[in-house]
Amino acid sequence: MSYSALSHLECSRTAQRYDADVVQGVSAVGAPLLARYDLERVAATVTPDIIASRPPTLWRYHEVLPVRDEANVVSLGEGMSPLLPLPSYGASIGVPQLMMKDEGLIPTGTFKARGAAVGVSRARELGVKGVAMPTNGNAGAAWATYAARAGLTSLIAMPVDAPSITRAECVAAGAELYLVDGLIGDAGKLVNAAVAARSGYQEVSTLKEPYRIEGKKTMGYEIVEQLGWQLPDVIFYPAGGGVGLIGIYKALLELRELGWIQGELPRLVAVQAEGCAPIVQAYESGASESTPFPDARTVAFGITVPKALGDFLVLEAVRATEGTAIAVSDADLLAEQRRLAAREGTFICPEGAACMAAAKQLREAGWLSEDDRAVVLNTGMGVKYPETVAVDVPTLAVDSQIPPKPAA
Ligand SMILES: Cc1ncc(COP(=O)(O)O)c(C=O)c1O
Repeated sequence: MSYSALSHLECSRTAQRYDADVVQGVSAVGAPLLARYDLERVAATVTPDIIASRPPTLWRYHEVLPVRDEANVVSLGEGMSPLLPLPSYGASIGVPQLMMKDEGLIPTGTFKARGAAVGVSRARELGVKGVAMPTNGNAGAAWATYAARAGLTSLIAMPVDAPSITRAECVAAGAELYLVDGLIGDAGKLVNAAVAARSGYQEVSTLKEPYRIEGKKTMGYEIVEQLGWQLPDVIFYPAGGGVGLIGIYKALLELRELGWIQGELPRLVAVQAEGCAPIVQAYESGASESTPFPDARTVAFGITVPKALGDFLVLEAVRATEGTAIAVSDADLLAEQRRLAAREGTFICPEGAACMAAAKQLREAGWLSEDDRAVVLNTGMGVKYPETVAVDVPTLAVDSQIPPKPAA
């Protein structure tokens, strides 16, 4: 069995086949291309036990990843993030079996490292010399970091409001970085024009190259493996472009085809912020695609995506699994970020906190039951967003005293 069982690429709208061994962008109709594998061959040669014996990185699933030659793997040790029980917080919202897949603990502090590791590795394998992308911050930081590791150049454009640490990460990694006075779509237009006018770069915007999603789908493989090849009942995901959710759904379908899981798939929940909820609006109105969300704004900056290229794929995944889409307010998600940290000792990003708020609300509404085994994706570490916690504490003079213990 070779390192990868990649067979071809397929248009997500028309199912037309494309050659996977040349650099590809979107399909002829402008839709994302999805990687397809010879899963029969994988099922005949690989077993969950073999996977379990491999090192704890996402490359343990290499047969269902696109890199053909292991020598081209660019890795910083990404993957196999913890799946943590949240007994105290879960009980407080009436979901005692709540778990969190903590993506704050992988390189660059967000799940974006998964897409970057696989995307950059495959780009290098196909002879790409530089990558260019618009970003809400974390993806740019991850791609710049992995590009540096791979010896590729990177051109990154992000909104001025993106988390400021992500600028520093790009600069430290030697990226060509631009701040844009606008949103991610505006940054995308500038990057697109720049790539058209200069050679040597592949545009790797969300779902405009086929392999970022392959990295992100490994979250789905890991959740299933970490549960002993069993399925949870529900998975919550903070959806901007929605790549993680589309990827997890793709992983579940592949796992079913491999024969490694049985039964009903988990209900997938797309979580957005009230200040930018195009997918929730489309879900509620029964539409198959979203319309651009006006004046988008939320403290959960990673999910500020007014119109996503893969929105129809997110909606398809949510509906096919009898999941749902829900928007939460910034006030609610910030409150849950604090409550979770105080109860469980884990400081998560506001996007992950949006999922906690969504779980709480869906439990209150009766959509989630007390018996549900629910997994929340925390997509990044809270440390990347220090401004989300107001710190209002006294500064003491050196010759003063710490006051008596406050009443509980
Ligand atoms: C921390 C975090 N969570 C979630 C997302 C949304 O990811 P996607 O665009 O793949 O839905 C982002 C995107 O920037 C992010 O940085």
